Amino acid sequence: MTPPSTALATTAQTHFEDAHEQLILRHDAATGLTAVIALHSTSLGPAAGGCRRWHYISTDAAMDDAKRLAEGMSYKNALANIPFGGGKSVILADHNDRPTPAQLQRFAAWLNELQGSYITAEDVGMGVAEVSQLAEHSPYVSGLGRAGIGGDPSPFTALGVFLGLRTAVAAHLHTDLRGLRVAVQGLGAVGMALCRLLHDAGAHLWVADLNRQRVATAVEEFAATPQHVDDIVSAPVDVLAPCALGGAITDTSAAQLHARVVAGAANNQLATPSAGQLLKQRDILFAPDFLINAGGVISVMHEYLTQCGTLDPAAEAHWVTERLQTIPDRLLEVVSASRSSGAAPEQVAVQRAREIIAAGHC
Ligand code: NAI
Repeated sequence: MTPPSTALATTAQTHFEDAHEQLILRHDAATGLTAVIALHSTSLGPAAGGCRRWHYISTDAAMDDAKRLAEGMSYKNALANIPFGGGKSVILADHNDRPTPAQLQRFAAWLNELQGSYITAEDVGMGVAEVSQLAEHSPYVSGLGRAGIGGDPSPFTALGVFLGLRTAVAAHLHTDLRGLRVAVQGLGAVGMALCRLLHDAGAHLWVADLNRQRVATAVEEFAATPQHVDDIVSAPVDVLAPCALGGAITDTSAAQLHARVVAGAANNQLATPSAGQLLKQRDILFAPDFLINAGGVISVMHEYLTQCGTLDPAAEAHWVTERLQTIPDRLLEVVSASRSSGAAPEQVAVQRAREIIAAGHC
């Protein structure tokens, strides 16, 4: 996970606008910790979603980010058929500092006060090391890889994105991945793992990252074509996979895309709802990010359910793979409904998720 930088994580607007069940802003003077915990919905089960640690320009910006991310988690978890609602927490960070043990202990105490209505895990700025420290003080933490189950979610996220991307290509371009040109923006934990899967499937890769070493690795390992970070979105490819931060598709970039399919890991790839409409008008298929990047949360929540004894890993050996398979299945459902209704795929996916949540079971 990349440590927090000096900017706000994303400025994307979304179709998300629901009321939240709880929005908690806490400050602890002794440790200097300020955090927001947003519980969007617990209709399907405890609200699940990672903890982000970031330098925000204001407390309001942190609260908005937590709310938007929590609502996205409700939809992601509902569509992935996992018995969890949606929540998210954000810790307000000062530039590039690291959280102190006392701050993590305090945050764990706040989790405990919620008595299991919110379960947290890794997110940007919070890796396995930090969530492991949280778990020393709270049972409501997952993503640690206990007993060889779960752990780092990024390989599972990459696999889910790969399944979604492949399905989107088959549905929209009527081809497989051999010889297909795919641009991957961001070569972090998910982006690099996705490159490996795409390369093994015969795709030709175009890559960009702010980190030159990661680009060099992709060029060497996958014979990828390096692109400048400013040019990757409009690269001459068939598919664009945004795997950096949110907001990659603006109204301007949507008008300039060469790609016919957009399918990546980053949360909130559409900077505005109108960018999604533009993609639809240009007959570019957008695979909703909150639908295809659910692999990580599926793995992390499998670990949580196993850890608390709800799942027997021997009896439920296929729990993760079965739910990963919901990604291509749901995407096909969404693509088909989008074609027949004329609505953009992300609108259809949000609507479907809301129906699942309203029904109270996945
Ligand atoms: P990461 O922090 O490991 O990697 C992000 C990469 O993007 C870094 O290499 C960074 O240098 C690069 N980057 C940042 N800005 C860029 C730009 N403008 N152009 C090109 N490269 C840029 O993050 P990770 O874990 O790989 O996640 C990627 C995205 O997927 C994030 O948006 C994250 O929220 C989302 N996501 C990740 C999940 C996971 O399991 N790790 C689960 C669901 C969503």
